[in-house]
Amino acid sequence: MDTRPIGMFDSGCGGLTVLKEYMKELPHEDFIYYGDTAHLPYGDKSKEKIIEYAKNIVEFLLSQNVKMIVIACGTASAQAYEELKNSYQIPIKNIIEPTAKTNLGNTVGVIATKGTIKSEAWKNEILKHHPQATIHSLACPLFVPIVEEGFAGSEISRLVIHEYLSKLQDKNLDSLVLGCTHYPILEEQMKLEMGSKVQIINAGKESAKDTHDFLEQNHLANDSSHVGTSSFYASDDFESFKENAKKLEITI
Ligand code: DGL
Repeated sequence: MDTRPIGMFDSGCGGLTVLKEYMKELPHEDFIYYGDTAHLPYGDKSKEKIIEYAKNIVEFLLSQNVKMIVIACGTASAQAYEELKNSYQIPIKNIIEPTAKTNLGNTVGVIATKGTIKSEAWKNEILKHHPQATIHSLACPLFVPIVEEGFAGSEISRLVIHEYLSKLQDKNLDSLVLGCTHYPILEEQMKLEMGSKVQIINAGKESAKDTHDFLEQNHLANDSSHVGTSSFYASDDFESFKENAKKLEITI
């Protein structure tokens, strides 16, 4: 048993969609969440910058005595994971690996930030597990600012979702992977756009299940009578971060 908290980070509020899944899957764990709002968005930054930001956050989380770190950000998972894994002793998990190995069908859509799509991290990881799959990748850079500015669920988000996802409409997708952790906040409107035949994949869910197994297998889980708590940090504008969290029914 290990009672230390799990550290988690994202560029902003997107990773809270991952945290939500973790809270459901691992209700006895404590979490420390860091939103790097000072450097948001990560999606159009260079790999070097993302690594620099991510390392600073990892150092902070280590100072908080976490037992493992979850990169609750698709872009940092794609751009900084290898470097972090090679630089620190502590277990570090990304959201791409556990999601890519699940059943995604034969024709897979992946939507994410520009940086993530350019890195081809999702495509490569999915093909590792499903070599026969056909993958259609699409960058949707407007989704993160829409979510951060509180426009999820509005007519604006509906139009932008339509504009991007119509490019995938004729691809006969079996599944659509939300490769950025901000995107589940737009999931309901995406479902309406794509129709019920396309399975929408939330990477946070897969990551939470994977971490559950990891904690059990390595005797790192918290005691089952403990009621989990979460602490939150943001590098800038904590008030907006708090507002966004409220919309996700996470009270800070
Ligand atoms: N939630 C981040 C991701 O999963 C958002 C990226 C951004 O800040 O642009 O990629």
